[in-house]
Amino acid sequence: MANRVHSAVAANVLCKREVFNLKEKLTELFWETYNYRDGVSVYFAPGRVNLIGEHTDYNGGHVFPCALTIGTYAAVKCRDDNKIRLYSGNFPEKGVCEIEVGDYSYIKQPDWCNYPVGVIWALYKKGYVLDRGIDIMYYGDIPSGSGLSSSASIEVLTAYFLNDVFGFGIELTDIALLCQYSENNFNGSNCGIMDQFASANGKAGNAIFLDTATLTYEYAPVRLDGQSLLIINSNKKHSIVSSHYNDRRREAETALSQLQREIDIQSLGELSESEFEKYKYCIEDDLLLRRARHAVYENQRTIKAKKALNENDIKLFGELMVDSHVSLRDDYEVSCRELDVIVEEALKLDGVWGIRMTGGGFGGCCVGIFDTDKIEDIKNKIDRVYKDRCGIKADFYDVSIGEGPHRL
Ligand code: GLA
Repeated sequence: MANRVHSAVAANVLCKREVFNLKEKLTELFWETYNYRDGVSVYFAPGRVNLIGEHTDYNGGHVFPCALTIGTYAAVKCRDDNKIRLYSGNFPEKGVCEIEVGDYSYIKQPDWCNYPVGVIWALYKKGYVLDRGIDIMYYGDIPSGSGLSSSASIEVLTAYFLNDVFGFGIELTDIALLCQYSENNFNGSNCGIMDQFASANGKAGNAIFLDTATLTYEYAPVRLDGQSLLIINSNKKHSIVSSHYNDRRREAETALSQLQREIDIQSLGELSESEFEKYKYCIEDDLLLRRARHAVYENQRTIKAKKALNENDIKLFGELMVDSHVSLRDDYEVSCRELDVIVEEALKLDGVWGIRMTGGGFGGCCVGIFDTDKIEDIKNKIDRVYKDRCGIKADFYDVSIGEGPHRL
């Protein structure tokens, strides 16, 4: 969702967040939209940044994301009839969208509604039926197209508040799975589980080390001493629906099926580097071999990175991040010139421990670990050279690792 607020009301209400109480202001925006405010509840679900483990989640490997303090908010109130009304403070010009309980077909306009409606549809398919309508007012502060999972955050948020309001009793991991199901089957993006899982199970100050083959996970405290995590937005828009994401998934599956003629494995994540080297002859063409090599080596890098973080070995962690970028660029081919320029230029600077593209790719953000006392200098230098070389202005966000979904 865009973080640009078009209407005077929304800008006035939300940009003064540090001065006013956020919950009251979201309730006020709800009132501006629906003309009542009694009994309104406000909820939040975060976006995510992935530290390492990219394009491994649909290959049965590990991922290592963190929930962010930016995400999506919703002010909600049940109705006495069967209407569901949806409105976004990010797209006030698109107005209120109204549907009926039980009528969950794809909505042509406003298209943003298909993320929450997809979740309501998925709940319905799984037997969680809304027994009345609801008024919903959303507002998100994740920059549009940044690849920091605005879609997962609105999905998890919707499932979370409906679960709370209607008392369905769904666990957080099942909320993540339901949201992935809706994105795969309603929105047509064949995403893995990482984004929804990170949003649903986020924990302040911690990264989530998730084995996507079993959905077992462990929290890893991110305690940096003298270094900071920084996200750099290339402002080259990322969209996994229109990107080659689904192609990559198919290519990895084809490589797996060729390996399965020789070895008994369910996913590429089961292979060590040496096993891959031993059996890679089974993969018939070079492109598929490179896709599989990324999936296998990236998974092993993620396991090593988790250990390095536990042992406070930031040097090794940073090196693994750079190796991850190179593999995503050359073997998996999901980077783009803009992300490569940011990584290349950052690596020339002093105080840079590691940097890589993060998320699905084809645009979006890089994440890096930098010396805190050099960070302003690093930002200025990257800002200047990136503008020169790519003609686009980068944005910089200090990473603050936040909680999963909650009621405010
Ligand atoms: C997108 C998908 C995730 C994951 C990443 C790449 O964010 O939604 O499931 O595959 O790309 O790691």
